[in-house]
Amino acid sequence: EDVSVVVVGSCMTDLVSQAPRLPKAGETIHGHRFFIGFGGKGANQCIQAARLGAKTAMVCKVGRDVFGNDYIQNFKNNGISTAYAEQTENAATGAASIIVNDTGENAIVIVAGANMLLGQEELQRALTAIVNAKVLVCQLEINPDTSLQALRMARENHVKTIFNPAPAIVDLCSDFFKASDVFCCNESEAELLTGMSVTSVEDASQVGLELLNKGCGSVIVTLGPQGCVVCQPTNTAPKHIPTTAVTAADTTGAGDSFTGALAFYMAHYPTMPLEEMARRANLVAAVSVQTVGTQTSFPFQKDLPTELF
Ligand code: RIB
Ligand code: NA
Repeated sequence: EDVSVVVVGSCMTDLVSQAPRLPKAGETIHGHRFFIGFGGKGANQCIQAARLGAKTAMVCKVGRDVFGNDYIQNFKNNGISTAYAEQTENAATGAASIIVNDTGENAIVIVAGANMLLGQEELQRALTAIVNAKVLVCQLEINPDTSLQALRMARENHVKTIFNPAPAIVDLCSDFFKASDVFCCNESEAELLTGMSVTSVEDASQVGLELLNKGCGSVIVTLGPQGCVVCQPTNTAPKHIPTTAVTAADTTGAGDSFTGALAFYMAHYPTMPLEEMARRANLVAAVSVQTVGTQTSFPFQKDLPTELF
């Protein structure tokens, strides 16, 4: 009832190896650390919004297995409603094999498993929460039809939508753009979606305008250490929002920290200019890259400067 941010999206168990570099095809290399963590872009975004103070609910599917049981408990530990976090016998909890190199870059393979069984029926069960939320967030680690349907349900009920097209697909249905109040992607996703190359702030501005023309409300292209670019129909030019320089230990999930923070600001500061929300979300994500892990590195409101609230 008083849930402000609803995420319809993925849960993955992250199996993370830290190694000096990413291996080549056919190669075996020694890593120096292994850990298991809670991941999945949907859940990561929900966790970040919750840690900043949003009342959140997660609409998702995990397996009826150890990883799935642990995941449900993880949501409870983070104060996230699990009323629509369902378990299935028919597939295993999603898993992500992640390698992080010494400069904090990563390579990831996901096996979505149970995430792909989230569909129309589950959305219907979550209907009341979705239509009464302030903000709905979706990504592309579940069946894309489910994401699109959730975005439409929200839109029809005047709930603000954030769509993070990650991981990106080349032939993304054009309806996704029309269903997105804020379309939020990183540089490589923007490249895949438009065929344009993005290597600078200028490129990001160009690609942002191209995406804006596809019918979204606004576009944010995130640029890692360079911050992000915000494109809005009301502004004549895209706006570059720089961020503070930090030493990256692990950039995994930085985009999720950004998107989750954006959802929090949109839900709790609805009149704040989008550029200011993006500036603050940049700073939240910058904290997350400075420690290893995904959700373990996402800051709580109490850890952040009061100016961000
Ligand atoms: O965005 C980071 C996430 O991508 C990881 O947590 C992993 O689960 C993959 O889904
Ligand atoms: Na991190």
